[in-house]
Amino acid sequence: MSDSTDAQNLNQDAAEATEAENNLPEQEQNVPEEHKRRIRSFVLRTGRMTAGQQRGMDEFWPKWGLTLEQGMIDPTDVFGREAPLVLEIGFGMGHSLLEQAKTMSDHNFIGIEVHTPGVGKLMAEAGDAGLSNLRAYEDDAIEILKQCIPDGSLDLLQLFFPDPWHKKRHHKRRIVQAEFAQMIRQKLKVGGRFHMATDWENYAEHMVEVMNQAEGYENTATDGDYVPRPDSRPVTKFEKRGERLGHGVWDIIYRRTC
Ligand SMILES: C[S@@+](CC[C@H](N)C(=O)[O-])C[C@H]1O[C@@H](n2cnc3c(N)ncnc32)[C@H](O)[C@@H]1O
Repeated sequence: MSDSTDAQNLNQDAAEATEAENNLPEQEQNVPEEHKRRIRSFVLRTGRMTAGQQRGMDEFWPKWGLTLEQGMIDPTDVFGREAPLVLEIGFGMGHSLLEQAKTMSDHNFIGIEVHTPGVGKLMAEAGDAGLSNLRAYEDDAIEILKQCIPDGSLDLLQLFFPDPWHKKRHHKRRIVQAEFAQMIRQKLKVGGRFHMATDWENYAEHMVEVMNQAEGYENTATDGDYVPRPDSRPVTKFEKRGERLGHGVWDIIYRRTC
């Protein structure tokens, strides 16, 4: 898919997500029963797959895709080697995850995303690049973390530009909450890091507030609450565009202490 088609699709997806945010009760009708029980951080969007994304699913998903039904994984078995494990929640179209998997070949990566076209795109690009250090789930990250990711297994958990849920009455849908902080703490190694990035200042403040109150973490920032973007987080073209428009980006990294 060309960059412009990709950008158009993302714009359309963003418009759909906003529309969905405005019409939540109707959208919720499409939600599987098992997901209705709790407040979700995402709205399932209709997935338009391009031919390239479909090819990614057809050719590479059988080899690199993981599913909830497989249950708890053993990362050493899955990757056929022991290496530091990085997991990204909500990788979108997979831009930064793909880049990281290419440049940090001595790390193993797992991505989780509910939006099928993004999963297809990542599969196609990772497959074409012959990457063997990347796996993906197409599902709700909360369930995957709880049911499939072993406790104390993650060196780094990444949450880049999560849905900000702008309206105050929707803030409860933000994925970063007290309960979430403790669930992911179990999944991190002691000393493992939780890296968040957002371009929405109010969400950055919310992240810091939740994480400061969460037991068993320390903020790694030495000056204030935020850190400069570490080299491990690639800058995507969408972020570059935001920078040109004068938008801020906040990187926040907490370490599991106990
Ligand atoms: C605003 S987009 C950002 C995507 C990407 N991280 C980036 O920086 O471009 C947030 C993504 O998180 C995904 N998402 C939200 N909640 C999720 C969840 N519980 N499990 C899996 N994916 C989720 C959405 O589908 C969406 O693609």
